Amino acid sequence: IAFAADFPPVSELPVQAELPNPLVMLDGSQIRTKQQWEEARRPELQSLFQHYMYGYLPAATSVKATLTASNTDLFGGKASWKSLALHYGPDGTPPLGLLLIIPNTQKGIPPVFVGINFCGNHTVLTDPKVPLTRSWYRGSCPGCENETATDKGRGGQLDVWNAEMIIDRGYALATFYYGDVDPDKNTNDFMDGVHPHFFKDGQTEPGKHDWGAVAAWAYGVHRVIDFLEMDQTVDTKRLALVGHSRLGKATLFAGALDERIRVVIPHQAGCGGTAPNRFNVGESVERINTSFPHWFNDTFPEFNKEVERLPFDQHCLAALCAPRAVLFSNAEDDQWADPNGQFNMLKAADPVYRFLGVDGLQEGVKPEMGKLIDSRLGYFIRPGKHSMSTEDWKVFLDFADRHLK
Ligand code: GCU
Repeated sequence: IAFAADFPPVSELPVQAELPNPLVMLDGSQIRTKQQWEEARRPELQSLFQHYMYGYLPAATSVKATLTASNTDLFGGKASWKSLALHYGPDGTPPLGLLLIIPNTQKGIPPVFVGINFCGNHTVLTDPKVPLTRSWYRGSCPGCENETATDKGRGGQLDVWNAEMIIDRGYALATFYYGDVDPDKNTNDFMDGVHPHFFKDGQTEPGKHDWGAVAAWAYGVHRVIDFLEMDQTVDTKRLALVGHSRLGKATLFAGALDERIRVVIPHQAGCGGTAPNRFNVGESVERINTSFPHWFNDTFPEFNKEVERLPFDQHCLAALCAPRAVLFSNAEDDQWADPNGQFNMLKAADPVYRFLGVDGLQEGVKPEMGKLIDSRLGYFIRPGKHSMSTEDWKVFLDFADRHLK
């Protein structure tokens, strides 16, 4: 069994009303050995997701870091932070601002959470020395004025990121602002952020299979991990990735492509991430492509009225993380993200974990509210709304303890 990267046009893909089998190749061959999974089906699925949905990521480029600020006295001396500008990509690619917060008291180098943030690194701590992002700034973020970050927003997301609690639990936190990689604007999005810098010679607009915003944010995660591997102040063999909502979509996609991410936590990611494309519950493929045309590639909308032609569903993205740990976490009031459908995605990814000889999802039924299923395929749902909170972080930390310690 081999994997050929010449995929058919959408109109020639077979209609599959049920979930495609992650252990069957596009040409119908059954995967029978781990080697076939590793060498044929895994790369095929990774390419299928890029080809039809997220767009192809460019090859990794080297990363150079410059220190922009630092402080060794955070949280009463319990932690230090440093801020870096990461330069990557072709000349002119905007730098990514990374904030790395490290426990001072820990013996040995700490495990790390990488987190993609919505509102800038300066909202994660109150310290006035944390640099403000100079990129397009999200309107709903604290202190936003004319799409620009201001000092008024400092510390505005303490309860979203809970850095002190993360430190107290023995982890480092490495976080970056998603807009540094690609502004989240609905219009003309492929022409700003990283995208135009990666055009081929003579290219002036995106190709049909080029990367969208979700893929760009995932690429940013990969470059941050490249840096952490060089920097060696955190233990990159014990690395978890967290993102909320659209950044949860980027989290799962990043985890599916990069085995360095040992624990993958897409929080309330929903459609285009952790929820099925089929079955039309909550947000639909057509709806997401209409509201957010820049998140995926220009081929994905061809499935708007024909989701059953998709040669995968989102369970295959979870399966690509096997045998690593993945947690789908949810909130009861967030039915838009289809928490039930997400549980079914884990169930449908489970056979791949078993095939690889490890446990996947330990329970066949959705757990009661507030109870974490902490098997390699993990699930959590709490009461309340679409948000990321201290309560969620306690669960992320418990899950990471289970799988990284
Ligand atoms: C919208 C969108 C979701 C997305 C969410 C978010 O609700 O429909 O797909 O996850 O925004 O990113 O907050």
